Amino acid sequence: MIDKVAVLGLGTMGGAMAERLHAAGLEVWLWNRTASRAEPFRARGFHVADSAADAVAAVDTVVTMLFDADAVRSVMTQALPAHGDGLIWMQSSTVGTVAAREFATMAEQAGVGFVDAPMLGTKDPAAGTLTELVAGRPPTSRL
Ligand SMILES: NC(=O)c1ccc[n+]([C@@H]2O[C@H](COP(=O)([O-])OP(=O)(O)OC[C@H]3O[C@@H](n4cnc5c(N)ncnc54)[C@H](OP(=O)(O)O)[C@@H]3O)[C@@H](O)[C@H]2O)c1
Repeated sequence: MIDKVAVLGLGTMGGAMAERLHAAGLEVWLWNRTASRAEPFRARGFHVADSAADAVAAVDTVVTMLFDADAVRSVMTQALPAHGDGLIWMQSSTVGTVAAREFATMAEQAGVGFVDAPMLGTKDPAAGTLTELVAGRPPTSRL
């Protein structure tokens, strides 16, 4: 059961996905490298974290929707150690198979569940009809 979700990356896709998650009634935490991009969300009931680690610490699911694998690696190396029990990391940035395996290993070593979930679709579908190609397994702590 997902109650609290963080979206890291408020670009074209992450911003639209965050809107959809919020509309579905979830508690949504946001972080973006350029902080000003997150500010318009704050007044509308989104939680805006000062750091990616603060966002990860606050939720049970974190979605990375960043530019590329380097961005994901950089952000999650900093943020992942802040996770609480049972965190699921849904990695939706386009990163390729090599980086997807790298991130699955990173998550496993941190005791975090990992879902590789690249997207088919663009901004308008991100508001409700994206196709996600999802693969993963439960967190090691639940096995
Ligand atoms: N747009 C599409 O139609 C589409 C469709 C399917 C999949 N995708 C994939 O989804 C991902 C996101 O796409 P998008 O269109 O939302 O991209 P975008 O609009 O360019 O947004 C990129 C996001 O990544 C952040 N970012 C970039 N480099 C970073 C770094 N080094 N450290 C931390 N944050 C960084 C940006 O932060 P700042 O605001 O600070 O720059 C921004 O939040 C990409 O992997 C893309 O290939 C996109």
